[in-house]
Amino acid sequence: MRVLVTGHEGYLGSVVVPHLIEAGHEVVGLDVGYYADCLIGPPPPRVSSVRMDLRDLGCADLRDLGVQAVVHLAALCNDPLGNLDADLTYAVNYRATVNLARAAKAAGVTRFLFSSSCSLYGSGGGDAPLDETAPFEPVTPYGESKILSEQAISSLADDDFSPVYLRNATAYGFSPRLRGDLVVNDLVGHALLTGEVRLLSDGKAWRPLVHVRDIAAAFLALLAAPRERVHNRAFNIGQTAENYLIRDVAELVREVVGGTVTCADGGGSDLRNYRVRCDRIATEIPEFRPEWTVRSGIGELAEAYDRYGLTLEDLTGPRHLRLGRIRELLAGGRLDASLRWTTLTGTQG
Ligand SMILES: NC(=O)c1ccc[n+]([C@@H]2O[C@H](COP(=O)([O-])OP(=O)(O)OC[C@H]3O[C@@H](n4cnc5c(N)ncnc54)[C@H](O)[C@@H]3O)[C@@H](O)[C@H]2O)c1
Repeated sequence: MRVLVTGHEGYLGSVVVPHLIEAGHEVVGLDVGYYADCLIGPPPPRVSSVRMDLRDLGCADLRDLGVQAVVHLAALCNDPLGNLDADLTYAVNYRATVNLARAAKAAGVTRFLFSSSCSLYGSGGGDAPLDETAPFEPVTPYGESKILSEQAISSLADDDFSPVYLRNATAYGFSPRLRGDLVVNDLVGHALLTGEVRLLSDGKAWRPLVHVRDIAAAFLALLAAPRERVHNRAFNIGQTAENYLIRDVAELVREVVGGTVTCADGGGSDLRNYRVRCDRIATEIPEFRPEWTVRSGIGELAEAYDRYGLTLEDLTGPRHLRLGRIRELLAGGRLDASLRWTTLTGTQG
């Protein structure tokens, strides 16, 4: 299939694109380019791509691309970035997302894979794992933007247009566009570089965790699965056995990497607290075979950090922290307050 991947220059996109190419799909990327040059290690394969803000996309743009499927990853991703300006989060993650889905449908796209998030379960958890029918209890504009998008895209579903909602758990693992703002990536980096496994909260919240390459495998499986199994359906992406208390993740990091577990000053409780059940994808999409556990991912990260000479400045600076990167671009006058480039960036080859 010829597949449009939006947000192909992000943390997930940089791993999803090679997966799709290896499986024989032809990929076209679309990204505004906030993190284009924030690379570590060998870069992902170059693909034909469009440098564009999703908010400016029109129906004709999508028709011109001639794609049969869309993998929609582009977003102002994660809760802290979403809190920077809630309206911008809704503009990109919700309104531009629905606009993209409409344009895709009008252009004859038959499958639309939307990168949603388990963040929509928000504060809904506790000890019982939540399946896809659980009520939504978002605690941030980011979580809410995913709910609004799922609901609006769902109204477009028909015989010719099949949206699918991938409610990804919190990701971890190495990507050529690394993120130090993800809990496992952060804990491993600090353990390796400072000897401290530094918790930023009290560690008592539950969180489902999934390796970035297992997310890529889920996109691939849901792209290829028969329509009747996926049409207009949500899937929690991860493994039911991979829900963790954050303090237990810290303990695992200590076991694998070494160091001392500490709590950052003022580390209070985290409102986001949920466990999820991932039995729907496990039983209904057998082509999806997750390969990673948090323990194996910690080892992989430590090895990659070492191999590519990651520094503390890399891990905690704008190169690999989303909020830090956006703030840097704002402070340097390269982005205006609406997160639009102040200089023309053009189309990539
Ligand atoms: N990383 C996670 O743990 C996780 C978990 C659940 C869901 N998700 C979802 O998966 C998707 C990808 O996440 P990620 O971790 O790769 O995020 P990311 O921030 O690393 O990448 C997002 C990409 O979208 C691009 N983008 C942002 N605004 C844009 C706009 N207006 N127009 C065009 N491109 C734009 C950015 O430049 C970036 O390359 C997001 O939708 C996110 O909400 C991620």
